Amino acid sequence: MFLSFAGLIALAQTPAAKSAASSKGISVLHPTAGNKVSGTVTFTPVADGVQVHAEIAGLTPGKHGFHIHEFGDCSATDGSSAGAHFNPTNQPHAGPDAAARHEGDMGNVEADASGNAKLDYVDHQISLANDAKSAIGRSVVVHTKPDDLKTQPTGDSGARIACGVIGWAKTQ
Ligand code: CU
Ligand code: ZN
Repeated sequence: MFLSFAGLIALAQTPAAKSAASSKGISVLHPTAGNKVSGTVTFTPVADGVQVHAEIAGLTPGKHGFHIHEFGDCSATDGSSAGAHFNPTNQPHAGPDAAARHEGDMGNVEADASGNAKLDYVDHQISLANDAKSAIGRSVVVHTKPDDLKTQPTGDSGARIACGVIGWAKTQ
Protein backbone atom coordinates (compact mmCIF):
# COMPACT_ATOMS: atom_id res chain seq x y z
CA MET A 1 0.00 0.00 0.00
CA PHE A 2 1.68 3.19 -1.19
CA LEU A 3 -0.88 5.75 -0.09
CA SER A 4 -0.57 7.55 3.24
CA PHE A 5 -3.65 7.95 5.39
CA ALA A 6 -3.88 11.60 4.26
CA GLY A 7 -3.67 10.45 0.65
CA LEU A 8 -6.55 8.08 1.15
CA ILE A 9 -8.68 10.87 2.66
CA ALA A 10 -7.91 13.09 -0.34
CA LEU A 11 -8.88 10.28 -2.70
CA ALA A 12 -12.13 9.71 -0.85
CA GLN A 13 -13.00 13.40 -1.17
CA THR A 14 -12.33 13.62 -4.90
CA PRO A 15 -15.68 13.55 -6.69
CA ALA A 16 -15.90 10.83 -9.31
CA ALA A 17 -17.72 13.19 -11.65
CA LYS A 18 -19.03 16.71 -11.65
CA SER A 19 -22.16 16.88 -9.54
CA ALA A 20 -25.26 17.12 -11.70
CA ALA A 21 -26.55 19.97 -9.55
CA SER A 22 -23.72 22.24 -10.69
CA SER A 23 -24.12 21.47 -14.40
CA LYS A 24 -26.16 23.04 -17.12
CA GLY A 25 -28.52 21.33 -19.55
CA ILE A 26 -28.81 22.27 -23.21
CA SER A 27 -31.16 21.52 -26.08
CA VAL A 28 -30.13 22.41 -29.63
CA LEU A 29 -33.30 22.80 -31.67
CA HIS A 30 -33.48 21.51 -35.23
CA PRO A 31 -36.35 22.08 -37.66
CA THR A 32 -38.80 19.29 -38.42
CA ALA A 33 -39.52 18.53 -42.09
CA GLY A 34 -40.66 21.59 -44.05
CA ASN A 35 -39.66 24.09 -41.35
CA LYS A 36 -36.63 26.29 -40.70
CA VAL A 37 -36.77 26.84 -36.96
CA SER A 38 -33.51 26.55 -35.05
CA GLY A 39 -32.23 27.64 -31.69
CA THR A 40 -30.76 26.83 -28.32
CA VAL A 41 -32.38 26.35 -24.93
CA THR A 42 -30.27 26.20 -21.78
CA PHE A 43 -31.29 24.95 -18.35
CA THR A 44 -29.25 26.30 -15.45
CA PRO A 45 -29.76 25.38 -11.80
CA VAL A 46 -30.56 28.37 -9.58
CA ALA A 47 -31.56 28.65 -5.92
CA ASP A 48 -35.31 28.35 -6.46
CA GLY A 49 -35.48 26.19 -9.57
CA VAL A 50 -34.08 25.96 -13.07
CA GLN A 51 -33.37 29.05 -15.17
CA VAL A 52 -34.63 28.47 -18.71
CA HIS A 53 -33.06 30.62 -21.43
CA ALA A 54 -34.21 30.19 -25.03
CA GLU A 55 -33.05 31.86 -28.23
CA ILE A 56 -34.96 30.69 -31.30
CA ALA A 57 -34.96 31.85 -34.94
CA GLY A 58 -36.91 31.06 -38.10
CA LEU A 59 -40.37 31.39 -36.53
CA THR A 60 -43.46 33.13 -37.85
CA PRO A 61 -44.17 36.27 -35.79
CA GLY A 62 -46.26 35.70 -32.67
CA LYS A 63 -46.64 33.03 -30.00
CA HIS A 64 -45.61 29.40 -30.35
CA GLY A 65 -46.22 26.57 -27.88
CA PHE A 66 -42.99 25.61 -26.11
CA HIS A 67 -42.75 22.40 -24.10
CA ILE A 68 -40.58 19.67 -22.74
CA HIS A 69 -41.78 16.38 -24.24
CA GLU A 70 -41.27 13.01 -22.59
CA PHE A 71 -38.80 11.31 -24.92
CA GLY A 72 -35.36 12.50 -25.98
CA ASP A 73 -36.11 11.31 -29.49
CA CYS A 74 -36.38 13.78 -32.36
CA SER A 75 -35.90 11.13 -35.05
CA ALA A 76 -39.38 11.36 -36.60
CA THR A 77 -39.53 13.96 -39.39
CA ASP A 78 -42.64 15.48 -37.76
CA GLY A 79 -41.26 15.37 -34.19
CA SER A 80 -43.88 12.84 -33.08
CA SER A 81 -41.17 10.55 -31.63
CA ALA A 82 -40.72 13.03 -28.76
CA GLY A 83 -44.02 11.74 -27.36
CA ALA A 84 -46.44 13.67 -25.14
CA HIS A 85 -45.75 16.57 -22.80
CA PHE A 86 -43.37 15.56 -20.00
CA ASN A 87 -45.83 14.74 -17.22
CA PRO A 88 -44.28 12.47 -14.56
CA THR A 89 -46.80 13.48 -11.86
CA ASN A 90 -49.90 12.98 -14.02
CA GLN A 91 -51.21 16.56 -13.95
CA PRO A 92 -53.46 18.42 -16.42
CA HIS A 93 -52.02 20.63 -19.16
CA ALA A 94 -51.68 24.28 -18.12
CA GLY A 95 -49.33 27.25 -18.24
CA PRO A 96 -45.92 27.61 -16.61
CA ASP A 97 -47.32 29.67 -13.70
CA ALA A 98 -50.05 27.16 -12.79
CA ALA A 99 -49.64 25.15 -9.58
CA ALA A 100 -50.90 21.99 -11.28
CA ARG A 101 -49.44 21.43 -14.71
CA HIS A 102 -47.30 19.11 -16.79
CA GLU A 103 -43.66 19.49 -15.75
CA GLY A 104 -43.03 20.18 -19.42
CA ASP A 105 -45.43 23.11 -19.73
CA MET A 106 -43.16 26.05 -20.50
CA GLY A 107 -45.97 28.03 -22.16
CA ASN A 108 -45.05 30.01 -25.26
CA VAL A 109 -42.17 31.73 -26.93
CA GLU A 110 -43.09 34.92 -28.80
CA ALA A 111 -41.32 35.78 -32.03
CA ASP A 112 -40.80 39.34 -33.24
CA ALA A 113 -41.40 40.53 -36.80
CA SER A 114 -38.06 38.97 -37.83
CA GLY A 115 -39.04 35.57 -36.48
CA ASN A 116 -36.70 35.66 -33.48
CA ALA A 117 -37.81 34.74 -29.97
CA LYS A 118 -36.10 34.98 -26.60
CA LEU A 119 -37.42 33.64 -23.32
CA ASP A 120 -36.01 33.75 -19.79
CA TYR A 121 -37.79 32.47 -16.73
CA VAL A 122 -37.19 30.33 -13.65
CA ASP A 123 -39.06 27.04 -13.78
CA HIS A 124 -40.17 25.73 -10.37
CA GLN A 125 -41.29 22.26 -11.49
CA ILE A 126 -38.51 20.64 -13.48
CA SER A 127 -35.18 19.55 -12.08
CA LEU A 128 -31.75 18.72 -13.42
CA ALA A 129 -31.16 16.13 -10.72
CA ASN A 130 -31.27 12.39 -11.15
CA ASP A 131 -34.97 12.17 -10.28
CA ALA A 132 -38.39 11.73 -11.92
CA LYS A 133 -38.73 15.45 -12.72
CA SER A 134 -35.39 15.76 -14.47
CA ALA A 135 -35.45 17.43 -17.88
CA ILE A 136 -32.22 15.70 -18.90
CA GLY A 137 -32.83 13.09 -21.60
CA ARG A 138 -36.19 14.60 -22.60
CA SER A 139 -36.69 17.00 -25.50
CA VAL A 140 -37.81 20.55 -26.20
CA VAL A 141 -40.50 20.97 -28.87
CA VAL A 142 -41.66 24.23 -30.49
CA HIS A 143 -45.11 24.34 -32.12
CA THR A 144 -46.66 26.14 -35.06
CA LYS A 145 -49.55 27.63 -33.03
CA PRO A 146 -49.82 29.35 -29.63
CA ASP A 147 -50.38 27.22 -26.54
CA ASP A 148 -53.71 28.40 -25.08
CA LEU A 149 -52.53 27.06 -21.67
CA LYS A 150 -55.81 25.18 -21.09
CA THR A 151 -56.91 22.81 -23.88
CA GLN A 152 -56.14 19.17 -22.89
CA PRO A 153 -53.69 17.65 -23.28
CA THR A 154 -51.60 19.87 -25.57
CA GLY A 155 -52.81 23.48 -25.38
CA ASP A 156 -53.99 23.13 -28.99
CA SER A 157 -50.60 24.28 -30.22
CA GLY A 158 -50.60 22.24 -33.43
CA ALA A 159 -47.74 20.73 -35.39
CA ARG A 160 -44.20 20.36 -34.12
CA ILE A 161 -41.86 22.71 -35.99
CA ALA A 162 -38.62 22.15 -34.06
CA CYS A 163 -37.24 19.51 -31.73
CA GLY A 164 -34.07 19.17 -29.67
CA VAL A 165 -32.90 16.58 -27.15
CA ILE A 166 -31.93 17.92 -23.70
CA GLY A 167 -28.48 16.78 -22.64
CA TRP A 168 -25.66 18.04 -20.43
CA ALA A 169 -23.94 21.15 -21.73
CA LYS A 170 -20.18 21.40 -21.99
CA THR A 171 -19.61 24.10 -19.40
CA GLN A 172 -16.84 25.39 -17.11
CU1 CU B 1 -45.17 20.50 -27.25
ZN1 ZN C 1 -48.74 20.20 -21.28
